[in-house]
Amino acid sequence: MSILRPFDATDVLRFHSVNADPWTATYHNGYYASYLAQWPDWCIAAQPAFGDSVGAYMIAKHEPPAPDPQHHGHLTALSISPAMRGLGLARVFMAMLERLSSDGSAGWPAPSPLSPPPPAAAAAEGAPAEGANGNSTPDADEPPQAPDGTDCVDAFFVDLFVRCNNHRATEMYEKLGYSVFRRVVDYYTGMEGVGSSRDELDGFDMRKSMPKDTAGRYVRANGRDILVSPDQVWA
Ligand SMILES: CC(C)(COP(=O)(O)OP(=O)(O)OC[C@H]1O[C@@H](n2cnc3c(N)ncnc32)[C@H](O)[C@@H]1OP(=O)(O)O)[C@@H](O)C(=O)NCCC(=O)NCCS
Repeated sequence: MSILRPFDATDVLRFHSVNADPWTATYHNGYYASYLAQWPDWCIAAQPAFGDSVGAYMIAKHEPPAPDPQHHGHLTALSISPAMRGLGLARVFMAMLERLSSDGSAGWPAPSPLSPPPPAAAAAEGAPAEGANGNSTPDADEPPQAPDGTDCVDAFFVDLFVRCNNHRATEMYEKLGYSVFRRVVDYYTGMEGVGSSRDELDGFDMRKSMPKDTAGRYVRANGRDILVSPDQVWA
């Protein structure tokens, strides 16, 4: 069992069991702090139910600001410690990212057919939004209910970069509906711990369309054959 909670600035002192992994990059503290300052909702940690270490985390963001036509959710880091792999945690983190990146209709938690309509929808249907006490004002001790989608940014797609030789992660992302958009030659050149083969140095830019990309303009079928340089990615 694990507990999902916001990533905290002091988690950099507790995530060694996750980052002692050759596929996981460790950045300087200011890097994590800048994400927490700008996109706190997009940075999530999982800790074991009995212990205060960090067993897994996701660091993500959205950019460039809407209404830019390239507005998208971006996965910066996703890593699960060996002891917590295979439990579905990566799937849950990705679903949370997709929900935030979409209009709220994608990702997790999936709307249940049994759940009541959100207040906005209820009001549109002419029904007053009621608390558990039957009044239109919610009970003071009721947990606040955020209407679906209020924290979601309705971007066009989600993307991430992954080393071409990280087959485990690439296969997992494909299973989750991501596809290669382009291969970035030398994306990881110069990074600590990276070898010298082409597949270690290059990265796949993988993407998944969000509901706003109705025409599928931000994904392509033959992405593995499209080679670009890092300059073209950051242009
Ligand atoms: C890749 C990684 C994130 C997977 O995490 P995980 O918690 O074990 O993954 P999950 O249990 O949530 O699995 C999600 C889906 O991917 C699949 N999957 C997981 N590992 C897989 C593997 N080795 N090969 C193929 N599919 C795999 C699962 O079967 C699951 O699909 P399912 O629900 O249909 O069964 C984890 O191994 C990891 O942290 N690796 C090191 C860091 C890394 O590579 N991060 C990605 C860099 S971008």
